[in-house]
Order: sequence, then structure tokens, then C-alpha cells
Amino acid sequence: MRWQLKSFILRQLSVMPGGKMAYLAVQRILGTTHPQPRRDFTRAIELIELIRKTGQQIEGTSCYEVGTGWHPFTPLAFYLAGAKQIETVDVNPWLSLDSARKAIETAEQHLDWFCESLNLDKHEVWNRYRKIDLKAKTLSQLLETMNCRYLYPGDATNTPYPPQTFDFVVSSNVLEHIPAEILKNIAKESWRILNPGGLAVHRFNPGDHYANNDSRVSSGNFLKFTEKQWQPHGSGLAYHNRLRCSQYTQIFREAGYLSLIEKTRVDDRVLQEITNGTQELAPEFQKFTPADLASDYMWTVAMKANVNAENDHSANRDYIVQQTPKHRIGNA
Ligand SMILES: C[S@@+](CC[C@H](N)C(=O)[O-])C[C@H]1O[C@@H](n2cnc3c(N)ncnc32)[C@H](O)[C@@H]1O
Repeated sequence: MRWQLKSFILRQLSVMPGGKMAYLAVQRILGTTHPQPRRDFTRAIELIELIRKTGQQIEGTSCYEVGTGWHPFTPLAFYLAGAKQIETVDVNPWLSLDSARKAIETAEQHLDWFCESLNLDKHEVWNRYRKIDLKAKTLSQLLETMNCRYLYPGDATNTPYPPQTFDFVVSSNVLEHIPAEILKNIAKESWRILNPGGLAVHRFNPGDHYANNDSRVSSGNFLKFTEKQWQPHGSGLAYHNRLRCSQYTQIFREAGYLSLIEKTRVDDRVLQEITNGTQELAPEFQKFTPADLASDYMWTVAMKANVNAENDHSANRDYIVQQTPKHRIGNA
């Protein structure tokens, strides 16, 4: 589908009454809400592996997820890996009893692979899986049996939790859909609810999402538009903040975190188009490096390290900063 047509449809759905539910109905008809357990488990595994890289484990921990989406694969993965409490929040009502049940059912045939990927005890993981009540009458009852609570509508900038409640704040494919000012407040609120030493672990896609359905354009296409020109295409249901990876880094640093891991994936096509001058750049993007502009994935782990010096950013230091060319990671 031409990206302009998708943009037009999303724009109409964004402004019409009941548009969100109409969008959900359209997605169901197109089959885009079918659970994709392998893909989404892979993404959740990445979050867990990032946590493990810092030396922390999932067993017995508590986790707050921003942006549940249609299927609770991240909460399911954290539950199966031993988390004792998972709270997941969304501003849209995409998750339902039916979509959650279907996702959990489809996960079953990938459980052995899930255990092997994370080197988890199969017996224990299967036991946890069997404890999930797939016959539950309500979504909250179903999720309760996997130590999970869904908060919709929820506000990750102002949560009801006391300070130091969670070990991890995580998200997958969400941060790019949040305006910078809200992101700053989410980073601050995450800091408040994280335990000392707790981690903010996020993976997200800073590239132009229209490129997913229209091969005529690259993931850097939106860089040619000024803010005003982009507004009709990148607002409402299609909202994308167009922030570059360096700006996410800055947001977490300014909120006081110690950056432990920053990994980006560069889209070679965009890099080439920028380097040979065929990718136009709006004035607001001209200050960024080509690699920053061409990044279409980012994985970041930031720690609440220095709880007594929330404004002492001089203590921040990267332990691992790594760039990963696109061809080396195929599952994002
Ligand atoms: C692309 S979906 C990803 C969903 C899920 N994490 C996944 O990987 O399938 C982005 C989700 O973020 C949610 N979202 C956007 N802004 C949000 C915010 N400020 N707080 C919480 N969720 C938000 C959207 O409603 C949507 O469900």
C-alpha cells in the first residue's frame, strides 16, 4: 500500500468518533492483529537478555511495562522467566480477553524454544504456563494467573505506585510513539518507581514506519519533512516522534540514569541515501550524524544508579556502546 494512502486512512480514523475501535476492526479484518508468538517472544527475549547482560535476573522481580499493545507477550515472557509482579499500561484499549487468550494459546508451541533461548528450566516454565487460567471469564482474572495486571487507560507519567516499587521498567516498540515531553516525564516517573539499581529497558524503532508497508520509501523517508509538513502523516493513530537515538540517550541522561547499554541498528539503505545526497533532510535533522539519522532500531538499558544525586549527570558513563549493522540482527 502506498504510504500516503495509509497515512490518509489513519488520519480519518484518528479524527472520527469511535475511530480507535474502527481501527481495531480494520486491523482484525486485515489480520494484522493475529498473534505472532515467535516474533514477539523474540522481542521479549531481547529485553530479558539485556537485563541479564547487566548481571541482573528476572526470578522474583517486579516489572512495569509501558505500552501493552494487542498481545501480552512481554508480560508472559517475564512471568515464565519467574517475575512475581508485572504491571502493564496502555493509553489504547487494544488488549482484550480474547486477544490475550489467543496469544497465550499460540505461545504454547514455542515454549521449549523459549526455554532453550533463555536457558530456563523447562519443567519450571511449563508448570508456570499450566497455571495460567485460559478459561478465566475476564481479562483481569486471566492475567492475574500470570502475576500480571493490565492498566487501561494508564498514565506512565503519573503512576499510583509508591517510590521504589519495581526492578524494571520495560517497553517494546513503544517509545517512538510518545512525544518527547511525555517521554521525559515517563523517564522521571520511571526513576521514581524503580528500586535503587533498577533498570529502564527499552527497545524501539526510530525509523519511518510507513516503510514497513511501502517498499518505495525507506525508513528514513520522514526525515525530509519539516515538523509542520509531517504533522498530517505522523499524528493521531500514526503518531511517531521522529526522535533520533542520540535524543533518547539525552532524555535518559537528563532524568539521572546511568547508561549501561546502548545499541543501535543502522539501515544501510538510508545511510547510503544520506551519504550520496539522495535523502533530503529537513532543517531540523541536519545537525545529526548520518548514522544517527539512519538508525532504525535502538536497544537501551539505563540504571537508577545514584539515588542520592538525581541531578548529578556527571556520574553518567556508558559501559557498552555498540552499533549493530542491520544485517546482523534479523528479528527486530
Ligand atoms: C506498536 S504498539 C507495541 C505494543 C507492544 N509493546 C508490542 O510490542 O506488541 C505501541 C503501543 O504503545 C501504546 N502507547 C502509545 N503511547 C503510550 C503511552 N504514552 N503510554 C502507554 N502506552 C502507549 C500504544 O497504544 C500501543 O499499544
